[in-house]
Amino acid sequence: MANLRISLAVVVVQAVLYRSCEALRCNCTTPPCERNGFQCETDGACMASTSFIEGQEQHIRICIAQDNLVPPGQPFYCLSAEGLLNIHCCYTDYCNSIDLKLPTVTTQAGLGGGYGPDGSWGLVELVAVVAGPLFLLCLLLLTFMFLYQYHQRAYSHRQRLEVEDPSCDHLYMTKDRTLQDLIYDLSTSGSGSGLPLFVQRTVARTIVLQEIIGKGRFGEVWRGRWRGGDVAVKIFSSREERSWFREAEIYQTIMLRHENILGFIAADNKDNGTWTQLWLVSDYHEHGSLFDYLNRYSVTTEGMIKLALSAASGLAHLHMEILGTQGKPGIAHRDLKSKNILVKKNCTCAIADLGLAVRHDSASDTIDIAPNQRVGTKRYMAPEVLDETINMRHFDSFKCADIYALGLVYWEIARRCNTGGIHEDYQLPYYDLVPSDPSIEEMRKLVCDQKLRPNIPNWWQSYEALRVMGKIMRECWYSNGAARLTALRIKKTLSQLSIQEDIKV
Ligand SMILES: *[C@@H]1O[C@H](CO)[C@@H](O)[C@H](O)[C@H]1NC(C)=O
Repeated sequence: MANLRISLAVVVVQAVLYRSCEALRCNCTTPPCERNGFQCETDGACMASTSFIEGQEQHIRICIAQDNLVPPGQPFYCLSAEGLLNIHCCYTDYCNSIDLKLPTVTTQAGLGGGYGPDGSWGLVELVAVVAGPLFLLCLLLLTFMFLYQYHQRAYSHRQRLEVEDPSCDHLYMTKDRTLQDLIYDLSTSGSGSGLPLFVQRTVARTIVLQEIIGKGRFGEVWRGRWRGGDVAVKIFSSREERSWFREAEIYQTIMLRHENILGFIAADNKDNGTWTQLWLVSDYHEHGSLFDYLNRYSVTTEGMIKLALSAASGLAHLHMEILGTQGKPGIAHRDLKSKNILVKKNCTCAIADLGLAVRHDSASDTIDIAPNQRVGTKRYMAPEVLDETINMRHFDSFKCADIYALGLVYWEIARRCNTGGIHEDYQLPYYDLVPSDPSIEEMRKLVCDQKLRPNIPNWWQSYEALRVMGKIMRECWYSNGAARLTALRIKKTLSQLSIQEDIKV
């Protein structure tokens, strides 16, 4: 009996294991699924959606990869939008073979007027018939005026109302593309890093902006609330449309998601008649940038290694090319600096601001956009960028330039490391050698001609962690880009150091 129970348990466990390895099969309505008999397989969930687009309802069924089920527990993909979209996610074979009800569309209640039974009205009826609608009209007008004022006020506070007329979204979407197109994007890109565009829009348009947390050359960064959580919203000025588009495009590169790269949520461009609002929504990290963090706090040896190792992991993932259909191209950041790295709650880094990044197409060995000569922040520019000797046809050159900048960021971190009771104040690299907004010429003289680099104090040699950090920095700062370490090498060296120093990461 006991034996039987055990073998039964084994069978059950095996069944469960088998089940979890086996792909989930779903009904699928997108054109690429046609060849597979309108089916798809996924490691994530099946989704069925019904939407009301262009005056007719559409039923769409797709697979959603595990990678895209974010955030866990309440994936964006599985959220309905009232009046626009009804979505259902489920996790058993063909469970999306259902027809969801049309999202509720409020129908206008007709004012049914009736003629008198004999066609002749008394005075009272006549008054009622004339005055009644007039009264209603006045009431309607007043309501409208009130609503209008309320709306204006809300806008002057630069806050967006939670409830927007969903029919606006509907109009917007039909003007642009159909839902089928948008979902098609999703299913052809496989497990792309982004949500389907229509979901991104819905998310973006239900965010309530709270406070401004930063300003940059592109526009502003706000903290916003969305469904009880904080998100960061980067709002680009209209003339920065290209930067907005580029950054959104890079963030939606397949397989880009990584714990040390800022998590992208949504992009939205909203035309309000007079100007276009360009939004980029991402995870929010309350510590802010590494620059802010280091200005405010010194770090322990453990803290330093965690920051440095996580930054290297993020950069290594960005740089790495993953082959295969579910692969990712190599990406170079081109504007790495402490202000473009965020510090997460667990005191690890998330690399952000991918607006200047370039992607490598290894099949044709080309770079996905024509890289303009010198972009990025002058203070962090590698020597070959400053003197324009960088070989722009060679993708690896851009990676090497990133590594130089990473070395400078490490120097900023290491200075703040509290070892043996000593730590220095926060300073930008080359703070003692150039003015606050150095010109390219000033930087070039310093970095290329004089070959100067930030100072590595001798006393760092007496502490293992600082000694290793100093050594890494030197090997990031070689004039010859090709001689520098790779992000992966740095990651390995720092992993070893963290084991040596007995740090849990
Ligand atoms: C879903 O797929 C199953 C299996 O291929 C099929 O029998 C069923 O008819 C499909 N449902 C719909 C609504 O297409």
